[in-house]
Amino acid sequence: MQNFTYHNPVKLVFGKGSIKQLADLIPSGTKIMMTYGGGSIKTNGVYDQVKNALRNHTVIEFGGIEANPLYETLMKAVELGKKENAGFLLSVGGGSVLDGTKFIAAAMRFEKGDPWEILASGAEVKSAVPIGCVLTLSATGSEMNGFSVVSRKTPTEKRAFASPHVYPQFSILDPETTCSLPKRQVINGIIDPFVHVTEQYLTFDLNTPLQDRQAEGILLTLIDQGPKALQSPKDYDIRANLMWCATQALNGLIGCGVAHDWATHYIGHELTALYGIDHAQSLAVVLPGVLRHQKARKLQKLAQYGRRVWNISGLSDSDTADQAIARTESFFRSLGVATTLTEYNIPEESGRLVADRISGRGEMLGEHQAIGKKEIREILDLCYRNELAHP
Ligand code: NZQ
Ligand code: ZN
Repeated sequence: MQNFTYHNPVKLVFGKGSIKQLADLIPSGTKIMMTYGGGSIKTNGVYDQVKNALRNHTVIEFGGIEANPLYETLMKAVELGKKENAGFLLSVGGGSVLDGTKFIAAAMRFEKGDPWEILASGAEVKSAVPIGCVLTLSATGSEMNGFSVVSRKTPTEKRAFASPHVYPQFSILDPETTCSLPKRQVINGIIDPFVHVTEQYLTFDLNTPLQDRQAEGILLTLIDQGPKALQSPKDYDIRANLMWCATQALNGLIGCGVAHDWATHYIGHELTALYGIDHAQSLAVVLPGVLRHQKARKLQKLAQYGRRVWNISGLSDSDTADQAIARTESFFRSLGVATTLTEYNIPEESGRLVADRISGRGEMLGEHQAIGKKEIREILDLCYRNELAHP
């Protein structure tokens, strides 16, 4: 096992009716800037629950944070927050609102020029306004981590940053809030955590049997509960199990001491920036391509995954790995998500464009840092066609 430090400061408040606890979680006397998205919280009752819980607090609002939150929008919130002297940011929504809020929190305290540099060149975040979160879409794990992904319209970019200062102080997870999600977002909430786990599990063996079993536990739960959530969209227990899976998939725990990949995410972010497909949609396309391309390097873990997660038996490691990748892809397709770039009408030049953008920043991807310009093009070539979509 590799050396690691695990520190997670987020207080998680989970369960039905938990939004009521907001008033006790934020000190009264602090001016709160509540951030939210395009309006889902106003139609599903979450906005009213939050306002009611905070009726004795001073709350200003910034709405309109879009999916894949835009720097251009977030800078308007930075301006408002500074003008109003907000002392606490409360994110009410999905991963995009929370990631946007993390950026706002850091940008409000950023003193050295344009806060975009936090994303573009890794400028240091020295402090941030404290953040709390009411999560309404479980997928990203942002509620219990220090990561944030922000997009920019001009020039077209989608970049991430991490800082210990942007962990939420608390996150309220009431699975009932997710019952108003449209089907596409329910599917996204199965795929994204699934791929967060594979990025930390399908690498190479470092003798980490506990982390492997934890990762397999999350994958098996998603495979079991995901389709049930689609069949029974109002079932509270299924939503609760999915929500907890998503948090566990990217709160740092299963990533302790293991090798990390993240090639699928880096490539997927470029596809979202260039072609606007949802984050999880990009992952469902790219993961099978990465696994096929990197099969030799990942063989031992792929075979373990095939045997333990997909119950494949009696085959060689190589055949088990092939089957495991095919089973993964058909699981994604069975949920109702496409797994090829062709299905999104993405032009054949995407491989070249994405490879140029990533290698132009000097980045090498994967757990061996062995995926460069040539390999990214080869991977994306694999993502146009496959046996399952085009038998
Ligand atoms: O904007 P509103 O009106 O709220 O609608 C949202 C949005 O249109 C809607 N929605 C959210 N909760 C709802 C709801 N609709 C009905 N009922 C509810 N309860 O869902 C749509 C998508 O929301 P969004 O927040 O964009 O989705 P998600 O949570 O999947 O977040 C995606 C973003 O997170 C980033 C992605 O790259 C993407 O930008 N990620 C963040 C990570 C992190 N911070 O650790 C890691 C991930 O890998 C990922 O990169
Ligand atoms: Zn993700």
